[in-house]
Amino acid sequence: MAKKDESSDGLRLNRRNFLRTTGVVGLAETIAAPVELAAQSAPAAVGPGDVPVRLNVNGRQIDLMIEPRVTLLDALRTRANLTGSKRGCDRGACGACTMIVDGRSVYSCSTLAIEVQGKQIRSVDGLAGGDRLHPVQQAFCDKDALMCGFCTPGFIMASVALLEKNPNPTPEQIKKGLDGNICRCGTFSRIFEAVSSVKGVQRG
Ligand code: FES
Ligand code: FES
Repeated sequence: MAKKDESSDGLRLNRRNFLRTTGVVGLAETIAAPVELAAQSAPAAVGPGDVPVRLNVNGRQIDLMIEPRVTLLDALRTRANLTGSKRGCDRGACGACTMIVDGRSVYSCSTLAIEVQGKQIRSVDGLAGGDRLHPVQQAFCDKDALMCGFCTPGFIMASVALLEKNPNPTPEQIKKGLDGNICRCGTFSRIFEAVSSVKGVQRG
């Protein structure tokens, strides 16, 4: 006697058929497709151990072996002996760590070193030309725009980024351009005065 085909008369209710009848298979396939696509296009994972990272800082190539989780601030301060940029909050709130990456000011405490490979990184360490201060550094000195000086490297880099984009900012534009930086000593009015006094900053 031939074996009875249960699927032909609708008696067979396996797991897949059950899910299909309830629409769950379609839903699962809809979800799975983009997940698979994302997995295919995701960049290869690196770390967690040390990996080679090549940075271009102040026009100089720096090769490091660091974990992918190392921030730009830590990479430069602790591995490249570039200690001009300061760690204030270490969480993107104070601006003491500000550097310029491809012309934009960034919080280096919140930027991974590995992310900025191939970009032009500028830190306060490379701003002066030998014994000659950058015009913004000179203006901060001339206007006495610092007290303890801890925020100063970040303010100077943020000011350079601002002036390179807009060489003649209004007082309002200066305030807005520097609103990511905090001075706990309260030297804001002198900082704004210093930035206003700078003329002729060229694109770096
Ligand atoms: S140390 Fe980076 S924003 Fe404060
Ligand atoms: S000069 Fe002291 S925090 Fe700004």
